Amino acid sequence: MRKQIAAANWKMNLTYQQGEQLLDDILRAEITLSDDQQAIFAVPFPYLLMAKNELTGSKNYFASAQNCYNKKAGAFTGEVSAEMIQSLGINYCVIGHSERREYFNESNQVLAEKVNLCLDNKITPIFCCGEPLQVREAGTQNSFVEVQLRESLFHLSAEQLQQIVIAYEPIWAIGTGKTATTEQAQEMHAYLRTILADQYGKDIADTISILYGGSVKANNANELFGSPDVDGGLVGGASLIAADFIQIIKSLK
Ligand code: 13P
Repeated sequence: MRKQIAAANWKMNLTYQQGEQLLDDILRAEITLSDDQQAIFAVPFPYLLMAKNELTGSKNYFASAQNCYNKKAGAFTGEVSAEMIQSLGINYCVIGHSERREYFNESNQVLAEKVNLCLDNKITPIFCCGEPLQVREAGTQNSFVEVQLRESLFHLSAEQLQQIVIAYEPIWAIGTGKTATTEQAQEMHAYLRTILADQYGKDIADTISILYGGSVKANNANELFGSPDVDGGLVGGASLIAADFIQIIKSLK
């Protein structure tokens, strides 16, 4: 079975102390994860080592970066490379979040470079895709998201693709409280799996975890994750509240 993943994206929230407390509170629930389940915490860069140390010892709990730069190393003041992240012992990195695409103008081509650098450094990219509201209203979301995958991922070999986690995050559902319906999520996830199958074959497509993101809450995670092609969630707001994220982890298939 492909991995079922509850991924927290803290974004630019919480102080160091608040983050540490949140992880403590979540770990105190002692939720045992099976070999097919993971809980991943995408925390701000300065908290990566703290998060890694907190999570070490809890099986299938991992820390993740939220971004990396699209260059290997050099005179890029303030940026963080995939190699630096790997050197901390961190093996996950969110790539292409819609907030990065929008506020930092990250194109599909730049994201392809970031994906390559992650893979070169044995980091699993949690690759985000998703359409804005006007695309959804025009009914062209499938082709919009397909281009995002095609331009950032489809240069990869089959072996490389299997290192990727995909997160479908419709932009109109992020931070709005307007969750995609279970049908909308399942429909898009099934479509993504179809295009992965067309490109790489069904056996490989079936191994790729596709997470849903956009107003996942404690009270809707169970239904969303229950869909056959929804392999967990990438969670913003609700991941900042221990009781809510505990419930979301418990909702994994
Ligand atoms: P919300 O869960 O706050 O809608 O955020 C989703 C998201 O952007 C996760 O990456």
